[in-house]
Amino acid sequence: MSKPRIAVIGAGLIGLSTAVCISETIPRCSVTIISDEFTPNTTSDVAAGMLIPHTYPGTPIYQQKQWFKETFDYLFAINNSSEALSAGISLVSGWQIFKTNSNAELPFWSDIVLGFRAMTEMELKKFPQYRFGQAFTTLKCDCPSYLLRLEKRLKGNGGEVHAKRITNLWDLQNDYDIVVNCTGIGSRELIGDLKIYPVRGQVLKVHAPWLNHFIRDPDGLSYIYPGIHNVTLGETREKDSWNLSPDPNISKDIFDKCCALEPSLQKAQDIKVRVGLRPARLAVRLQKEILVQGEKKLPVVHNYGHGSGGFSMHWGTAKEAARLVGECIATLQDPLPKAKL
Ligand SMILES: Cc1cc2nc3c(=O)[nH]c(=O)nc-3n(C[C@H](O)[C@H](O)[C@H](O)COP(=O)(O)OP(=O)(O)OC[C@H]3O[C@@H](n4cnc5c(N)ncnc54)[C@H](O)[C@@H]3O)c2cc1C
Ligand SMILES: *[C@@H]1O[C@H](CO)[C@@H](O)[C@H](O)[C@H]1NC(C)=O
Ligand SMILES: *[C@@H]1O[C@H](CO)[C@@H](O)[C@H](O)[C@H]1NC(C)=O
Ligand SMILES: *[C@@H]1O[C@H](CO)[C@@H](O)[C@H](O)[C@H]1NC(C)=O
Ligand SMILES: *[C@@H]1O[C@H](CO)[C@@H](O)[C@H](O)[C@H]1NC(C)=O
Ligand SMILES: *[C@@H]1O[C@H](CO)[C@@H](O)[C@H](O)[C@H]1NC(C)=O
Ligand SMILES: *[C@@H]1O[C@H](CO)[C@@H](O)[C@H](O)[C@H]1NC(C)=O
Repeated sequence: MSKPRIAVIGAGLIGLSTAVCISETIPRCSVTIISDEFTPNTTSDVAAGMLIPHTYPGTPIYQQKQWFKETFDYLFAINNSSEALSAGISLVSGWQIFKTNSNAELPFWSDIVLGFRAMTEMELKKFPQYRFGQAFTTLKCDCPSYLLRLEKRLKGNGGEVHAKRITNLWDLQNDYDIVVNCTGIGSRELIGDLKIYPVRGQVLKVHAPWLNHFIRDPDGLSYIYPGIHNVTLGETREKDSWNLSPDPNISKDIFDKCCALEPSLQKAQDIKVRVGLRPARLAVRLQKEILVQGEKKLPVVHNYGHGSGGFSMHWGTAKEAARLVGECIATLQDPLPKAKL
């Protein structure tokens, strides 16, 4: 067979990382990204980009742990290179704090981040309203920088990028052998997957370069996440809301809550509001499917539904998607003999 032609739909974090991973692990194939939006206009650009997993209730924990570890190791190696600054990757230490210590149970990812431990009495003195906390070091992406790096890397590997909205997968069948679905919340309309729903998130991006520790209150949904270029203040999680307009009341609420945790934020400058729709699902959809229409067949690999945890899991899921693409290629090359009925 000639060079397999692979189309990846979606240029958010998941489409870009999957396309890069395919181009680096599958020899002799051509990879094209087709997407209607690009950085800086995707959901992935809005994210805080912290490597702190969110738990998917429908995906086994050992699987989530493996995806997180693969992602952490991949970005840790980038942090350890001269590329760290241009890729927007930094190491960041900080605290997650709780008003009760009912959350004293260790999260599944505690042995993957660095130096996970209970906070000391002295550290907790900074937060009189809180009774318990954990300290650790993790990685953070400046999302637009990281997305640009992936796009450059794909092009460097010979990949192409086309701007187009896809309304029917079969339109791709003449030009491509395999299609990879990385459309995030777009999958609801495109594939008619009603198990995916939006969880609206509003955040502030501010200039406060003196901050270098993160603080998060997971129960109160408040966080302060310093990155290389700016600090992300969050957040909201509004299920089933498709509203992309910033709500000024929410912005004020986020700012006030974050100032209560870190009073120096009162001096923050250049405050920008961003809104994104997390592609939420009980489980990430990571599987292959052969679509059939009459005599025609089109292998599709799905990789979407990363919800609140795309940055934390992306490289692990990209590797799995690339492996599934490899399996599809093997089937194209030596079709199994038709079973005798
Ligand atoms: C406020 C907020 C904060 C977050 N913080 C974090 C965090 O700290 N850590 C973390 O791990 N995760 C975080 N996330 C989650 C993370 O942003 C998502 O999991 C991730 O961005 C999903 O990436 P994606 O590529 O699937 O989706 P998207 O970025 O939405 O990309 C989808 C792409 O598909 C394209 N597309 C869709 N439909 C079509 C179509 N029909 N034809 C052509 N193209 C199409 C779109 O144009 C887009 O390019 C946060 C999310 C939000 C909203
Ligand atoms: C992002 O959106 C803006 C406003 O719609 C548009 O002008 C710009 O070209 C878009 N950028 C990219 C890279 O698509
Ligand atoms: C970090 O860089 C050093 C020196 O280049 C190298 O020996 C080490 O293996 C790297 N560590 C990681 C995690 O990439
Ligand atoms: C890794 O991140 C830390 C924290 O941002 C930074 O101090 C360090 O310089 C980074 N490593 C490299 C090689 O840039
Ligand atoms: C995604 O897959 C579904 C089939 O499950 C298909 O109907 C849809 O058109 C696909 N979309 C893209 C862009 O791959
Ligand atoms: C945040 O960083 C991005 C670079 O990724 C930059 O474009 C943006 O202007 C910064 N915002 C603030 C408020 O500093
Ligand atoms: C913001 O709050 C004010 C006062 O509580 C209210 O009148 C207004 O409608 C709210 N705005 C939005 C966009 O919710």
